[in-house]
Amino acid sequence: PLVTSTKMFQDAYAGGYAIGAFNVNNMEIIQGIVDAAKEEKSPLILQVSAGARKYASPIYLRKLVEAAVEDSGLHIVLHLDHGEDFEICKMCIDDGFTSVMIDGSKHPFEENIALTKKVVEYAHAKGVVVEAELGKLAGIEDDVNVSEKDAAFTDPDQAAEFVERTGVDSLAIAIGTSHGAYKFKGEPKLDFQRLETITKLLPNTPLVLHGASTVLPEFVALCNQYGGNIPGAQGVPEDMIRQAAQLGVCKVNIDTDLRLAMTAAIRKVFVENPSEFDPRKYLGPGRTAIKEMVQHKIRNVLGSSNRL
Ligand code: G3H
Ligand code: 13P
Ligand code: ZN
Repeated sequence: PLVTSTKMFQDAYAGGYAIGAFNVNNMEIIQGIVDAAKEEKSPLILQVSAGARKYASPIYLRKLVEAAVEDSGLHIVLHLDHGEDFEICKMCIDDGFTSVMIDGSKHPFEENIALTKKVVEYAHAKGVVVEAELGKLAGIEDDVNVSEKDAAFTDPDQAAEFVERTGVDSLAIAIGTSHGAYKFKGEPKLDFQRLETITKLLPNTPLVLHGASTVLPEFVALCNQYGGNIPGAQGVPEDMIRQAAQLGVCKVNIDTDLRLAMTAAIRKVFVENPSEFDPRKYLGPGRTAIKEMVQHKIRNVLGSSNRL
């Protein structure tokens, strides 16, 4: 069935592992992810961004996820990723989503609280859980000074106050990750000290790590080998994801790694078989690449295998 993440996060928190939250945009992406979770007997979060809703249309994505639930028998959370206002959250709640993110991170503290509270009230009345965000995710380069970093990264005391005042179910934090394929210019670095402090002040609040793709070098290399041009792409090393999962991070958001896996596989088909033009012949391998990559993550990085 479609479920909320409440029990998933409790178990993950206690077990020191994390649940993968994968962005979905079409059928092949959904199938690849769900196949992997099924083989690994893993809980699963499928998340839909505003851009995904615009690309595929809301009803297609919802029906595809419903089909995945029915076909796989898995417990799946259907989550809105980065809802920017009350209206989109309400729309998704009314549509049957079991979880929504209200991303008020760009607003001042008090406005973020007010907006989040409004969504929490509406969602909880309908049995839906809410993720909010405090701190700014934008890429932090090595040369930013401490006060700039303090302004962008999640402040632990504010985080405690935020969760207490909003009643939110989980909190996305900023500790040095960023969205996309170019997360670090030099050595990858996350502020684990800050994460530990947040976890101490907020015991039992599930934390969420956005921008958590590893940007797997094998897929970057394949893309570049088969005609792509994505030099210098770098993500969060797998060990850092494991460490975060030990420190209260229960939800790990992954989109870029899906994009890279699928694109690498499709590029390879195009270069090796220039006469091929049946979409199934390249979308199929794209789907397989996603499945294998997700299975690796679930089993070797997130640690959510056999946790149903
Ligand atoms: O957080 C961003 C996710 O990767 C979703 O990206 O807004 O292009 O669908 P998108
Ligand atoms: P990545 O770009 O690292 O995959 O992050 C995805 C994300 O945070 C979606 O909300
Ligand atoms: Zn995100």
